[in-house]
Amino acid sequence: MKATVLAHPNIALVKYWGKRDDALILPHQSSLSLTLAPLSVTTTVEFGAASDQVEINGHTAKGSERDRVLRVLEAVRGEAGGKLGPAKMVSRGDFPASAGLASSAAGFAALAVAAREAAGLKADPKVASMLARLGSGSACRSVQGGFCEWRRGERADGTDSYAVQRFDAKHWPELRMVVAILNRDEKEVKSRDGMKHTVDTSPYYAAWVKDAEAEVPRAVEILQRKDLQALGELAERNAWRMHSTAFAADPPLCYMNPATLGLIQHLREQRKKGMPVWFTLDAGPNPVLLTDAAHEVAAEALARACGAVDVIRCVPGGDAELKGEH
Ligand code: DP6
Repeated sequence: MKATVLAHPNIALVKYWGKRDDALILPHQSSLSLTLAPLSVTTTVEFGAASDQVEINGHTAKGSERDRVLRVLEAVRGEAGGKLGPAKMVSRGDFPASAGLASSAAGFAALAVAAREAAGLKADPKVASMLARLGSGSACRSVQGGFCEWRRGERADGTDSYAVQRFDAKHWPELRMVVAILNRDEKEVKSRDGMKHTVDTSPYYAAWVKDAEAEVPRAVEILQRKDLQALGELAERNAWRMHSTAFAADPPLCYMNPATLGLIQHLREQRKKGMPVWFTLDAGPNPVLLTDAAHEVAAEALARACGAVDVIRCVPGGDAELKGEH
């Protein structure tokens, strides 16, 4: 009746930006990401409580945060045949929410796997991925480790929209992701609102969808041959294109700040001097640098020289992992 699961956040190399169904969280396009270790969220779910309780990082969750968790728990109760009562969920991340990395992706992935386990359901990454998706789209890519592709799917009920692992974490152990925290402030426009605004008002949106969809198989092919330069170039152009569709929204949406652009400029200069380093950028000002093990220390120094207040060096992470069952 009780299970504890650890999951890693993920960084998209081909981003998810925009839903075709807001309620079921179905994307307009496929995306591809990589899980980040050692960052993680650990979540415990226990059925049999007096009422539903949701605790995240030591606080009782309220409003939409609580609703999203209850939605996942409700789906698990349905899958288990309605015999389960209220649940207590306790979740804790080992990295600051202010890191600008969505801890929600790791949190909902851990929740989906833990809740199914606590309910006595047979482990199934595909079903868990769809469950995690109901909490947050990008969470469907954190159920399995390594490199995961979220296939957009075609069906209206979302039963073909889930992430599949293309390569596990051991496929490319030398790859490094260096998170450069330039600004710890909460972003002004959350991804959920920003992507909706972009879908509704950006004239470039259709072009984004078409391009991102075509980039996913190219990214898979590049990952297959572990070509860092090709991957870096693809990740950068995809990030620029996601941000370009957002710049073109009305009113415009800009997640970058001067320090973001300063770092990007510096990175280009270092690249001209032969350093293999590229970046990607989610809906916030903090870039994630892509490099290899031989250059991760230099990448950290580059980030700090550009004003990073904190830097987190990451390696490809593994699957969501069962830590305990009671
Ligand atoms: C820019 O998964 O946080 O990080 O589905 O509304 O919860 P919701 O959004 P979320 O959006 C992530 C957007 C992104 C790109 C990505 O991770 O693919």
